[in-house]
Amino acid sequence: MRPTVGCLLLSLMMSVGQTLKCPRVCVCDNTKLTVKCIGNNLTHIPPTIDEIIVKLDLKKNNFGELPKNAFKHTPYLTQLSLQGCSVQAVREGAFRGLSRLLQLDLTNNNIDILYQESFDGLSSLKQLYLDRNRIEEIHPGAFAALNSLNLLSLTYNQLVYLPNMAFQGMMNIQMLHLSHNSLNNLATEAFAGLLALTHLNLDHNELQYFPTKTMTRLIEVTHLDMSYNPMTYLVEESVVMPKLTHLSLKHNALQDLSESTISLSPVISHLDLSFNQLSYIQALAASTHLTSLNLTGNPIRCTCLLRDLKLWALKSGIRLFGVCAWPPHLSDEPLENVQEQDLRCRPQDEWTSDVIEEGTKEEEEGVQEKTVSTAKSKKTRKCPKDCLCEYAAQHATCENRGHTKVPSGFPRKTLLLDMRGNHFHYLPSKSFPGIPEVVSLHLDSCKIHEIEGGAFQGMKNLIYLYLSDNQLSSLDAKVFEGAHEIMYLHLEDNKLTHFPSSATLTHIPKLLELHLERNLIAKLEPSGLLSPVLQLTGLYLNNNSIATIVPKALDPAPKLDVLHLEDNVLTDVPSDALDHAPLLTELHLSGNLIRWIGPRAFRVVAESLKNLLIDRMGLQKMSVRSLAGFGPRLLSLSLEDNLLEELPDLSPLAGLQNLSLNKNPLMCDCKLLPFYRWLEKMSLRVEAVCFYPSELRGQSVMESAIYKNCSIENAHSFNETSIPTKAHEPNIPNPTQPTEPSYAKLKLAKTKIAATPKKTKSKEFKPERALKMTRPNKKKRRRPKMKLPMI
Ligand SMILES: *[C@@H]1O[C@H](CO)[C@@H](O)[C@H](O)[C@H]1NC(C)=O
Ligand SMILES: *[C@@H]1O[C@H](CO)[C@@H](O)[C@H](O)[C@H]1NC(C)=O
Ligand SMILES: *[C@@H]1O[C@H](CO)[C@@H](O)[C@H](O)[C@H]1NC(C)=O
Ligand SMILES: *[C@@H]1O[C@H](CO)[C@@H](O)[C@H](O)[C@H]1NC(C)=O
Ligand SMILES: *[C@@H]1O[C@H](CO)[C@@H](O)[C@H](O)[C@H]1NC(C)=O
Ligand SMILES: *[C@@H]1O[C@H](CO)[C@@H](O)[C@H](O)[C@H]1NC(C)=O
Repeated sequence: MRPTVGCLLLSLMMSVGQTLKCPRVCVCDNTKLTVKCIGNNLTHIPPTIDEIIVKLDLKKNNFGELPKNAFKHTPYLTQLSLQGCSVQAVREGAFRGLSRLLQLDLTNNNIDILYQESFDGLSSLKQLYLDRNRIEEIHPGAFAALNSLNLLSLTYNQLVYLPNMAFQGMMNIQMLHLSHNSLNNLATEAFAGLLALTHLNLDHNELQYFPTKTMTRLIEVTHLDMSYNPMTYLVEESVVMPKLTHLSLKHNALQDLSESTISLSPVISHLDLSFNQLSYIQALAASTHLTSLNLTGNPIRCTCLLRDLKLWALKSGIRLFGVCAWPPHLSDEPLENVQEQDLRCRPQDEWTSDVIEEGTKEEEEGVQEKTVSTAKSKKTRKCPKDCLCEYAAQHATCENRGHTKVPSGFPRKTLLLDMRGNHFHYLPSKSFPGIPEVVSLHLDSCKIHEIEGGAFQGMKNLIYLYLSDNQLSSLDAKVFEGAHEIMYLHLEDNKLTHFPSSATLTHIPKLLELHLERNLIAKLEPSGLLSPVLQLTGLYLNNNSIATIVPKALDPAPKLDVLHLEDNVLTDVPSDALDHAPLLTELHLSGNLIRWIGPRAFRVVAESLKNLLIDRMGLQKMSVRSLAGFGPRLLSLSLEDNLLEELPDLSPLAGLQNLSLNKNPLMCDCKLLPFYRWLEKMSLRVEAVCFYPSELRGQSVMESAIYKNCSIENAHSFNETSIPTKAHEPNIPNPTQPTEPSYAKLKLAKTKIAATPKKTKSKEFKPERALKMTRPNKKKRRRPKMKLPMI
């Protein structure tokens, strides 16, 4: 029992004259109300500590385990140190009753797992130190009770992975230290709910890529330390953090970064890129607040290629820190001091289309190329004919040069190879010998209709492979053999008739994004299509002719975040396709032929989904409970351009921010009252116009006076009664038969997705569109742009 305030006063008064109870091995201070029992090899918390104590220091003992209610006799503690106490386990409720505790120090123990209720009861705790343990697992909810916490330190532990919601509940935390772990993977929602966090340290971990999506959740973070991680490359728009001002990426292994890496973090002022392997850096796009760019310790080549950066820094008032590493006569010259006219290029630094003679030894070796022989003899550095090699930036391009065979003889260190727009037709095995470092390979629009197994053999660092806009109709099982690092695979705008087989995908287990839009895939089968690529986060299958998705086709998909299935010919919501997709946040089904959506159609993904797009489908009916299962997580729902007269129950969607209902022939009668009320409550701005009854046509749903006369009984019929079951298909207006002049009919005619019912009244539709798959205007694709500046 917690003593009342009266009791406390009483005991305080009593204690003035008296000495406190003090365990034999401890040192007690009556006036400061502190007890220290340090280094006594205690195995239990001493039971005789006086209850009014506020500071308890139990450093260097030997507790092994902290049992439930271990501190129930000292409810007034504000500081508790358990440093170096060989604690292995903190049992659920160990600290229960310490509702006044402000600081808890558990550094230097042997804790390996943080269980769900480990820190229950610590409702006032401000600082929690868990450094130097062996923590490798954090159960969701471990910190849920700590809603006053503002600092959590977990440095020097053994964390490898952070699951979704790992830090749930810490609404007020401002500083989170995760340095010196082995983190290589952060779930997209790992930092969800940390809405007050301003400082995050992730230095000294094993992150190979900037976890863009995960970080995007941290809307208040101003300081992010990602130093000492093994990142080699930063793609376009990697850092999307609206309030970030200080970003440290020092001591990574960056060899290149996109010019738009930080373009979506508008207020970054300090960017530390010191001690990376950048030999060249471009002006960074759209970073108007940048004041300091630290390039210390990089092998910067001060050639004409740096002019861009210099000019940009000068113009924008950005201080550049670091020195030139090359050429020799500028070596160690501070970047701030080099003059534009000193930044010159010799032939070998520029685009070149012919074999050129190398300069002297030191030029050849530069800073990076330690492996190359230092023999004094002149060497020949090659670049294939009709290609341009840019040595400093390690890019090579043969774009649109009419090559019919893949050229060979690129510099061994090439990182980016751009061969867009040639006429290869066929890629034999081992098409890219001698360039093992290539990260990004562009083979789009090369008229390729076949790729032999092993074509990319030896490309051990390949991450981005662009094969878009070719003529591929199938993929060899061994096509990606030997290129097992591929993470982004672009196969859009080909003629693939099938989803890549499991045998094909087995070679690229790290795949994150698979682009198959605008192919000719008609069916997704068999089940488990994604099981070889369990890391997959984005799957793009829009604008195919998918009519069928077999049950569990996309199961499991443990990391899938975005699924594009729009503009296919599905007639049902593919509810059975997914079973385990716990992270799916976006589902695009627009432009399919789904006329009817049954109850709980999205049950599998309703928990995680944030954006649902079911517009442009000719949708006529949605079961009242079609959206059952969704809760406040759903942020946007697109229903526009359908044929809905009635709406399903939207009331559970308490978090909805965007709802589009435009272009539906809504029936404004009492059935719409629940919707009206809900909308009023939500204060969402939604454009919804009555179509029926005709006297209300054109009126806004919100302004219609119709509801005034509705009684409660005929209003709140969010019930399943009027909804057809699956067996009875809804009446599909037959456009050939004149019905009452209807919006629906006009719509059907207009969008040409009208079903011409087959003789056999089957529910299959054969839309015109499915037959003539055209290739409409391609949208501009994103690629890691490593542009070669023209000189
Ligand atoms: C501490 O206690 C353990 C067992 O309780 C004993 O084995 C060990 O020798 C003790 N160490 C010291 C320094 O007293
Ligand atoms: C630049 O980075 C180096 C090395 O990390 C560091 O010593 C130096 O203080 C930094 N300079 C500035 C201005 O931040
Ligand atoms: C996808 O298909 C739809 C419908 O045919 C078409 O309107 C749209 O432009 C296509 N999208 C792309 C990106 O090709
Ligand atoms: C809602 O719609 C607006 C405007 O179309 C868009 O800017 C915003 O990002 C959307 N929000 C969500 C959560 O989808
Ligand atoms: C409501 O009912 C009254 C009486 O029946 C009628 O005069 C009025 O027009 C009705 N209002 C609307 C908006 O239907
Ligand atoms: C919904 O239907 C059930 C049974 O069909 C009925 O008991 C209930 O009253 C109905 N609820 C409403 C709000 O109409």
